[in-house]
Amino acid sequence: MTPWWQSGAIYQIYPRSFLDTNGDGVGDLAGIVNRLDYLEWLGVDGIWLNPVMPSPNADWGYDVSDYCDVHRELGDLDILDQLVTEAGRRGIRILLDIVPNHTSDQHDWFHDSRSSRSAEHRDWYVWADGRGDDPPNNWRSVFGGPTWTFDEETGQWYMHNFLPEQPDLNWWNPGVRDAFDDILRFWFDRGIAGFRIDVAHGLVHDRELRDEPPDPEHPDRLQPIYSMNRPEVHDVYRRWRKICEQYEPACVLVGETHVLDPVVMASYYGQGDELQLAFNFAFVYAPFDAASLRDVVERTEAAIPEGGWPVWTLSNHDVIRFPTRWCDGDEAKARCALLALLLLRGTPFLYYGDELGLEQQNVPEEAQRDMAGRDGARTPMRWSNEPGLGFTEPGVEPWLPFGSGPNVAAERGEPGSSLSLCRGLLALRREHADLRRGPYASLQSPEDVWAWSRGDRYAAAVNLGEGEAVVEGLAGTILIGTSRDRDGEQVRAGLRLGAREGALLELS
Ligand code: GLC
Ligand code: CA
Repeated sequence: MTPWWQSGAIYQIYPRSFLDTNGDGVGDLAGIVNRLDYLEWLGVDGIWLNPVMPSPNADWGYDVSDYCDVHRELGDLDILDQLVTEAGRRGIRILLDIVPNHTSDQHDWFHDSRSSRSAEHRDWYVWADGRGDDPPNNWRSVFGGPTWTFDEETGQWYMHNFLPEQPDLNWWNPGVRDAFDDILRFWFDRGIAGFRIDVAHGLVHDRELRDEPPDPEHPDRLQPIYSMNRPEVHDVYRRWRKICEQYEPACVLVGETHVLDPVVMASYYGQGDELQLAFNFAFVYAPFDAASLRDVVERTEAAIPEGGWPVWTLSNHDVIRFPTRWCDGDEAKARCALLALLLLRGTPFLYYGDELGLEQQNVPEEAQRDMAGRDGARTPMRWSNEPGLGFTEPGVEPWLPFGSGPNVAAERGEPGSSLSLCRGLLALRREHADLRRGPYASLQSPEDVWAWSRGDRYAAAVNLGEGEAVVEGLAGTILIGTSRDRDGEQVRAGLRLGAREGALLELS
């Protein structure tokens, strides 16, 4: 039987920005329950929630202070249970975000760890002596500065691949491994269908703390081959996969495998015994032109092991929203991107707002909340153009500014909207088995066009160029086009596409 996440599409929600039900300007879990009808109408099968666990929010939920509870601003365990039940009733499953690489510096484990060199949890984190007055080695944090912070109390340095408020756990310690087994089971027992794993490539660090070598391509940077990306991380996922398989259906693990080589990314599938899904950042960061996209999709398809399953995504809470990053705000191009996302072989992840073609927002300096400048991708969902945007009560100041752009109410009844296009594509995937399961193969096409087949009966193409183009040799019926007036058109001698236009064809 096909697992649900192979045939389904998943929708990523940034909970603080989806819907605020208590007028504090912050989205909450009750808001997500409230909008399940919308997600059912749209046609998604799963939801991934950015972190909902208690957190001091030094990195907006990615600094967890308790792995078995819900942040009070977002709700509580009862509301989360209700979300699981209500979503389940609509055929939608809930995935949470788990942050195993590091905790908050406010987690009890770290409080204990830093209290003395002989504390019970001392070795749960990575402590080392400095080199004279300098840190233990040359590792650099992803957010800048050394990976090490000196702790006066016990006279040693602790490691943090991210902020000093995010001390790295020591995954060499068996107690850490056992604790996470229990955390996984705690949530799976509550009906959580799986996890997106934060920094999935980063958990294990080099035991000898060797210096990173310089990056040959960027001499001013280091290659993070010892602070993360260690081979031993695969043991962790084999262990987690076994836990997942104890549930029916098996729980799913999708890794934030932030590695740019599809071959390395594909290693996280193991021999079908590690992650079921691994995010593909080579695709996210590819230039938006036909040759580059085709190339990264072909390399990904070739790298993923037999039985493995690709993941495709256009945007997330860390990167610039795709209509801005890829399409310079051009709606026709954004529609081509959505069509491609939903017609590749693999599980598509839509980031909230993608379905509207929502652009990156400009957040003025005084309203910025994130230390790494990512607020523009995290602004409130635009439900309507009424005061409060349908996100919060009129007059309430949202936690991040509303910005500007399309909204659900306006797009919903509009057959030519991006929202209708997404919904149409999701419906076609449900209707035609080959659009879910059919193999991908690139097709011959003119220079600015990327064309591919899905099984024997379907072909899709996007023309990302500025002139008209014809994909020769295709004949059939257009099932859906980015120009919706072409839906149903009979194609005889080749598929003609206007500039920045895409279509899906049922071949005759
Ligand atoms: C991941 C998250 C990002 C966070 C970082 C540290 O990359 O997606 O938002 O800042 O990990 O946890
Ligand atoms: Ca709220």
